[in-house]
Amino acid sequence: MRKLFATASIAALALSLAACGGSGAGGGTDEGAGSGGSDEQKTVGVAMPEQTLQRWINDGKAVREGLEEAGYKVELQYAGNDIPTQQEQIDQMITKGVDVLILASIDGAALSTQLDAAEAANIPVIAYDRLLTGNKNVDFYVTFDNFNVGVQQGTSLLTALGIVDADGKETGEKGPFNIEMFAGSPDDNNAGFFFNGAMSVLKPHIDAGTLVVKSGQSEFGQVATQGWDQAKAQSRMDDLIAKSYQNDKIHGVLASNDALARGAITAMQNGGYDAASMPPVTGQDAEIASVKMINEGLQYSTIFKDTRKLAAQSVQAAKDLLEGKAPETNDTETYDNGVVTVPSFLLESDVVTKDNYSSLLIDSGYYTQANVDKGSVD
Ligand code: BGC
Repeated sequence: MRKLFATASIAALALSLAACGGSGAGGGTDEGAGSGGSDEQKTVGVAMPEQTLQRWINDGKAVREGLEEAGYKVELQYAGNDIPTQQEQIDQMITKGVDVLILASIDGAALSTQLDAAEAANIPVIAYDRLLTGNKNVDFYVTFDNFNVGVQQGTSLLTALGIVDADGKETGEKGPFNIEMFAGSPDDNNAGFFFNGAMSVLKPHIDAGTLVVKSGQSEFGQVATQGWDQAKAQSRMDDLIAKSYQNDKIHGVLASNDALARGAITAMQNGGYDAASMPPVTGQDAEIASVKMINEGLQYSTIFKDTRKLAAQSVQAAKDLLEGKAPETNDTETYDNGVVTVPSFLLESDVVTKDNYSSLLIDSGYYTQANVDKGSVD
């Protein structure tokens, strides 16, 4: 109750500040610089969802560094995957009078009140990686080509099973191969893009009988994982093994990200699979724990989305918006948020396997080989 009241009163304060002509984009007013900064220096509010996944730690760090290098002050908050906490953090940023917001939401549909308050205070909003939905007050979206990430995941599973060759050509291999699928969180707009992208290449082979989903669970609603929670993926895989694979082997797993991949792998290890018998499992994010497992042959692939590039793109967009310019877009059609189609910049991603992790991740300075060997960046 207390928290609810606090949230409501902060939102009300934000609205009243806005009504009094509080700071907005390019305002440069006293309120605009947050606590105690110079009038000149603009502040960017950055909201990130959580810190259990290494990717969001990397994102936060890269965005902060990029913004600071560009001369801005940064108010960076992580919300522990708790929606009310994230709402409250953004309310506070608006109340403090940040000049731009960069928001990586937990639930893309849950920030409408905050988007309205930002609009009222004339603060531009950049959706970071995940689309903000159900509200017109989203100025820009920086992300990866999320449908293509799914296509890459599905294709990498087909490659691992020998159904397509290294050039993506069908080999004539008919299997049948038993596969199971683990999709992301239903409140994350990206999760459907990843799943649909993967299904666009897997479904024809399911229809042909080359791929068999023995559990019968092949709809997004059946395979989605609330909160992208690794433990939930593990326990769903425990169930699948118990119910559908007592006398049969799993030959492949589509996992929409590395956390889900590791959950599925742990369940399979507990179910008797070892490095030699582990089926190919896909992933996403090139998290160091998963890259180590790829090097050891436990996970087959991941998708590298270079968070340094995403951060740089969002910093550039923030700069442009603060200077009253429209940020560069390369997609103005895909991301309809239910109210408006949000102008977007989509970055490309790469499939990482044991064969190429060194050139993609080590040579580019993302990790060192020592990081990979340890499975940690510390
Ligand atoms: C991101 C993925 C990430 C997932 C879980 C998605 O929105 O695009 O990179 O693995 O959220 O945090």
